[in-house]
Amino acid sequence: MALIGILKQSFTILLLLCKLIGSKEYSPNANGDQKLSECRRCKVLTESFNHWLDKTSRGKYEGGDAAWEEAKLKSYARSEVRLVEIQEGLCSELKIHQDACYAVAEESEQVLEKWWFDVNSVSLDLYTWLCIETLQQCCPSNHYGIDCSPCPQDKYNKICAGHGKCDGAGTRKGNGTCICRKGYKGVICDECATGFYQTSDSLCKACHKACNGCNGDGAASCEACNEGWELQSGMCLDVNECASSVCEHHQYCTNIEGSYKCFDCDTSCNTCAGEGSSNCTACEPSKVLWFAAGAEIFTQTVKLIQQTLT
Ligand SMILES: *[C@@H]1O[C@H](CO)[C@@H](O)[C@H](O)[C@H]1NC(C)=O
Ligand SMILES: *[C@@H]1O[C@H](CO)[C@@H](O)[C@H](O)[C@H]1NC(C)=O
Repeated sequence: MALIGILKQSFTILLLLCKLIGSKEYSPNANGDQKLSECRRCKVLTESFNHWLDKTSRGKYEGGDAAWEEAKLKSYARSEVRLVEIQEGLCSELKIHQDACYAVAEESEQVLEKWWFDVNSVSLDLYTWLCIETLQQCCPSNHYGIDCSPCPQDKYNKICAGHGKCDGAGTRKGNGTCICRKGYKGVICDECATGFYQTSDSLCKACHKACNGCNGDGAASCEACNEGWELQSGMCLDVNECASSVCEHHQYCTNIEGSYKCFDCDTSCNTCAGEGSSNCTACEPSKVLWFAAGAEIFTQTVKLIQQTLT
């Protein structure tokens, strides 16, 4: 009996230990709520509010006294009962940013009540009323900064010409600068960046890798050639650097597009034309070159004999 008791006890301790190790420490910022901007937090809350507004909306009753039911529904629509129902559910449905939602819900409880019971606010959606106008944490879309200034547009009313992002858009933050996507530049991102050319549909595409600047597609549209490429009959073609001896004495050369690479010869080679001992063009003084040009064998053999003699 005693043994069983001890076993039971140690088992419980073990279980407890496992639980301790297995459980992660709770941290309110574990799901990135800290990084959430004021405006995003407000938006999260209003989205949850709208979710519960929808959940608590009661459909029309079938049959019965229609006029009476309608009057009842109307009085329920903005009733305290419904607000309590919404507030009970608020944030509970969220899988991410739930902590941020609860925090901002607590901060905004009174202001939410004000919106709910104030007849003048009925026409405004909660996001506009709360986040943009009352708390002043957000701006209407494509507006930025403290005063909600409009983001820069091109002549077709496209924000940043459709090729960039307006800094701070939709929030009270930022300076409205267009942050252009790769390949675009300019105050409103309507120009092509260096190394890109404009297509007929006003997009910017990367130049061919042979080009140092271009006015169209392919190696024939280069304005100048990049290093490692040379102009031949109107095109930038790859230079074969290996045609001249660019590598060290004990190395062999491999040409690649726009450049070349040097690799060390096999240790048995003095000079070589490629990897491995079969690619030697001259041997280390102590080695003999086999199956190569007769003259080479001859000189190597002579060298070897000379060495053996001395
Ligand atoms: C606007 O903000 C961006 C990003 O924070 C910054 O890089 C840029 O220098 C700012 N521009 C001006 C004109 O202040
Ligand atoms: C000789 O060198 C070339 C280039 O590195 C290589 O492709 C080839 O396989 C080498 N030959 C032998 C027999 O190792």
